Amino acid sequence: SKHYAVFGSPITHSQSPRIHAAFAKQTGIGMDYVAIAANHDDFRAKLDASGVVGANITLPLKEDAFALCAGNVSARALRAGAVNTVLRDGAQWRGDNTDGLGLVRDLTERHGLDLRGRRTLLLGAGGAARGVAPALLDAGIHSLYVINRNSARADALVDAMGEPGRTHARAWDTLPALGEFDLLINATSASRGGQLPSLAMALVAPRSVAVDLSYGEAAVPFLAWARAAGCAQTVDGLGMLVEQAAESFLLWHGVRPDTAAVFAELSGRAD
Ligand code: ATR
Repeated sequence: SKHYAVFGSPITHSQSPRIHAAFAKQTGIGMDYVAIAANHDDFRAKLDASGVVGANITLPLKEDAFALCAGNVSARALRAGAVNTVLRDGAQWRGDNTDGLGLVRDLTERHGLDLRGRRTLLLGAGGAARGVAPALLDAGIHSLYVINRNSARADALVDAMGEPGRTHARAWDTLPALGEFDLLINATSASRGGQLPSLAMALVAPRSVAVDLSYGEAAVPFLAWARAAGCAQTVDGLGMLVEQAAESFLLWHGVRPDTAAVFAELSGRAD
């Protein structure tokens, strides 16, 4: 059977191998899928040596994966400047990005949210933020405020969206003056190290929805803050993870698996 993997760091607690094993069983497709730890300096070598025909790429390697594909990327990956799914293409790698569609599917279909017209705050401008920004704009949000510690990265993300009227780069210290947001998304890796920058309660209204693209323990600090600030609804990244995996599975195998059962199983005991 064909080999697949997810590359990133840290990777030991990744749920992707379980998700893809469940999809393979459900669809009757023979494949194996493992987690491989890799970093900026050894990602390319490990990917080439792994013998996989397809792979998912997670933090902090989504921009590395985009560079590795050297222009052989889908339109949505090009707009994001980040790749979360690769497929062997002769001697090359073909890159795509299913994160944005995965997030929008989870929010609209699983959680029943209407994203249209939402004033949206995006914390972070790394590979995860880049992956979801185009799909959020396409889903009809009102505007997107991108906050990042490294301001050049926020500017680059906003420039890449090509919609200067709807997308704005801002610094962390301007946050208290930005007003209320209908949708607040944490796409930083800060909470994975336990360090969440302080956030103003004034960002949140009762109608606000808060989303952390992480899942398990890593999603707790931001979502706990959001609830304390009065957010009506909080969503972690587990649903997005399952949806982006289903989209990657479709790219590799030509079949879109059903995600409901896999999500239900994982959300019972995800960490
Ligand atoms: P990912 O794939 O998770 O996006 P990444 O590309 O390494 O990984 O990006 C990490 C993101 O988390 C970046 O937006 C980073 O901000 P900088 O670009 O300024 O580094 C953000 N981040 C990480 N730790 C942070 C912290 N302690 N405070 C604020 N932002 C943080």
